[in-house]
Amino acid sequence: MDVLLGLQWGDEGKGKVVDVLTPNYELVCRFQGGPNAGHTLEFEGHKYILRSIPSGIFQGDKINVVGNGVVIDPALFKGEIDQLAKSGHQLTGRLLISKKAHLILPTHRLLDAANEAAKGQGKIGTTGKGIGPTYTDKVSRNGLRVGDILNDFDRKYKEATSRHLTTLKQMNFSVDSAELAKIEKEWFEGIDCLKKFKLIDSEHFLNKNIREGKKILCEGAQGTMLDIDFGSYPFVTSSNTVCAGACTGLGVAPRHIGRVFGIFKAYCTRVGSGPFPTELFDDEGKLMRDRGNEYGSVTGRPRRCGWIDLVALRYAVMIDGVTDLIMMKSDVLDSFDTIKACVAYKIDGKETEDLPFDIQGEMEPVLAELPGWKTDMTKMQSEDEFPEEFNQYLSFLEEELGVRIKYVSVGPDRAQTIERY
Ligand code: GDP
Ligand code: IMO
Ligand code: MG
Repeated sequence: MDVLLGLQWGDEGKGKVVDVLTPNYELVCRFQGGPNAGHTLEFEGHKYILRSIPSGIFQGDKINVVGNGVVIDPALFKGEIDQLAKSGHQLTGRLLISKKAHLILPTHRLLDAANEAAKGQGKIGTTGKGIGPTYTDKVSRNGLRVGDILNDFDRKYKEATSRHLTTLKQMNFSVDSAELAKIEKEWFEGIDCLKKFKLIDSEHFLNKNIREGKKILCEGAQGTMLDIDFGSYPFVTSSNTVCAGACTGLGVAPRHIGRVFGIFKAYCTRVGSGPFPTELFDDEGKLMRDRGNEYGSVTGRPRRCGWIDLVALRYAVMIDGVTDLIMMKSDVLDSFDTIKACVAYKIDGKETEDLPFDIQGEMEPVLAELPGWKTDMTKMQSEDEFPEEFNQYLSFLEEELGVRIKYVSVGPDRAQTIERY
């Protein structure tokens, strides 16, 4: 079983690479997160954005599994399924859902909005999909799981909703009951849609597949710097996005993990609030945003852009046990005269290469500067075509991170991917 995950603050290009690697596997599994994710795939002139569904669905008849660590909004799930059906992709039979995955209720979304409003200036800038409140209910042992829809569900739903409405009232958050009723109707249509899929004991299913020698690729959502334990807390998501999350999010033991593919952009982005030491507020940042089309695939928000942060990346490589790196969006830097990379942070006059407890305070990124390659990379097919300056950047990163870069992506299309070894 191999794992593929983001090493930065999300949107590294996980969806694209999962799709590219899927032919090497028999199963693709999502292990955490929910519709806060937006994974973009482009091929043969089509573009798809997946939120809860694994990115292995477009490569033949591979089995795709939504694991127990994922949270599902049935209404959004149905929307995704309907959209895919319209474009000729039927998933029943090859999309399996864990009975232990938790459900995002309409009132979880309201609680997400209420929590953000209560935080005021200190808001996280969540995607507003109810992620935090759903995982909160899971951990406080109040959640509803996919398996619950098979038995006495109306009662369980009413109990949970009434608890949420009480909390919302205590928070002075006004709820429009007519609007809520409308959302609930769509939500229950989503529940009917979920029932059309195989709801399984995914931990048994996956371990059986492992015993039979089947190859599994686990797809992460968000990124290591958004991990609930190791990310830039509290400006994080509410799940374990790190490699270990694949074990708890699928019920597979650590000894089954083989390769760990860590994805990063040739630069860095972040959506929502929170610290971002290498953020650029100048024309270079704007150029990255324009060339990289850095606008959120879920919320459309402009992504904050900056130079690659090797302090954070080194930390992510360590926490995730990355065996192979994948560099995305190399083409976005094609027109830059020089490329910068943060190799250390300067805090109170002292340099550190280790990610500190808190990256919110005053700190200055220590930047190395390398020559730009000033060459259009988007049509390149093999590494033999790479300009010398680009190879120099790759070697520099490999040395700094201590791991080889196996794939380089030079454009959004499936075909714009170069394997190096
Ligand atoms: P994910 O959430 O990690 O799957 O990433 P997103 O799909 O949210 O964001 C990545 C964006 O970059 C998408 O719009 C992709 O189509 C696009 N993309 C992926 N790889 C490349 C690349 O190498 N070059 C360029 N220019 N765009 C890319
Ligand atoms: P993919 O899988 C980028 C960010 C939000 C916010 C914080 C918490 O596409 O890489 P949440 O709604 O999870 O409670 O929001 O996390 N965030 C993401 N940023 N890519 C994502 O997913 C994200 N999912 C959540 O912007 O800052
Ligand atoms: Mg994304």
